[in-house]
Amino acid sequence: MEIMVLKGDGIGPEIMESSLNILNLLTENYNLKIDPVEFDIGAETISTGKWKLPAIIEEARKFKAILKAPMGHPELRNAGGTEDALDVILGLRSELDLYANVRPVKKLPGVQSVLRGYDEPGSINYTLIRENSEGLYSSHFGGQILRDEVAVDNQIITRKGTERISKYAFELAEKNYNRRKENKKKVTCVDKSNVLKSFVFFRKIFEEVSKDYPGVETQYMYADAMTQYMLFHPRELDVIVTENMFGDVLSDLAAATVGGLGFAYSANLSENTGMFEPVHGSAVDIAGKGIANPTAMILSTTMMLGWLGEAKYSDIVEKALSSVLADGTGTADMGGNVRTKEFTEKVMEKLRNS
Ligand code: IPM
Ligand code: MN
Repeated sequence: MEIMVLKGDGIGPEIMESSLNILNLLTENYNLKIDPVEFDIGAETISTGKWKLPAIIEEARKFKAILKAPMGHPELRNAGGTEDALDVILGLRSELDLYANVRPVKKLPGVQSVLRGYDEPGSINYTLIRENSEGLYSSHFGGQILRDEVAVDNQIITRKGTERISKYAFELAEKNYNRRKENKKKVTCVDKSNVLKSFVFFRKIFEEVSKDYPGVETQYMYADAMTQYMLFHPRELDVIVTENMFGDVLSDLAAATVGGLGFAYSANLSENTGMFEPVHGSAVDIAGKGIANPTAMILSTTMMLGWLGEAKYSDIVEKALSSVLADGTGTADMGGNVRTKEFTEKVMEKLRNS
């Protein structure tokens, strides 16, 4: 099967190389049948006009799975003032209707949490489901600045959007996916229904959907209180479902509890298409130095393999990676001095011996 590979900007191409080398090893040594088709798409290729958004989307529609490196350059902006490359990310998410943004939060071996008492691998293990097709972000292609005086962005919450994302969260909770053994099946709905009507609606629809899942506990949190809860009680969490913008903010906070953004990976899913990417950005400040942590990119790749029905391969890569981390191998962000290439080579060595 052909997959679309977007190499992105900054550290993007460097960490994508880690993923491609691993996929290549799986193809050659283990009979995985995947054919990556590489596209040089990122902020630079967009700002030079080499690729335009409609063409990128048309190309993307040909693929079932897209593996995407971080994209964006803080200096390359469009006339509206927002970043060029973000149109691609948000354009792909909305045009392909990738409504479920699935973000696992998992404490891996050998990785330090900023929280005390969470040294054990898996002591933090939950999934944040970010609604990915509406919410405040739906204004990205629509907000306005008038006369240099007035700025407007609207939040859109729909019945359909809230129903399908709530359903996704409950189904995931039922499947026992990624859960600590002692955890209850639970979905936590995060909103600000104490303040905004759109969130009163969000919560109401969530509650309606919850009735179809009597075996799954529900919990309601306001987004502000949730930031504390995630730091004080991460063991209590199983599946979180929230609006797009809240999901964006909370996922970086969640990442900090499991070693930082270098360990935050994700899937953007519809029923038929998946785009897999690290949660972190393109880190242009360290680009080209060969020191980036490829973990989130590699784990996004394993997520893709799992979603494509290749769980066997996704498991062996995750095991190899965990074992490299458990050995104390660390990139600069972890306080170590192992370089991207060397780190990847160690993962591949484990794979060859597994
Ligand atoms: C993320 C990123 C994106 C977002 C950016 C790059 C558009 O921060 O995936 O969390 O804001 O959704
Ligand atoms: Mn983000």
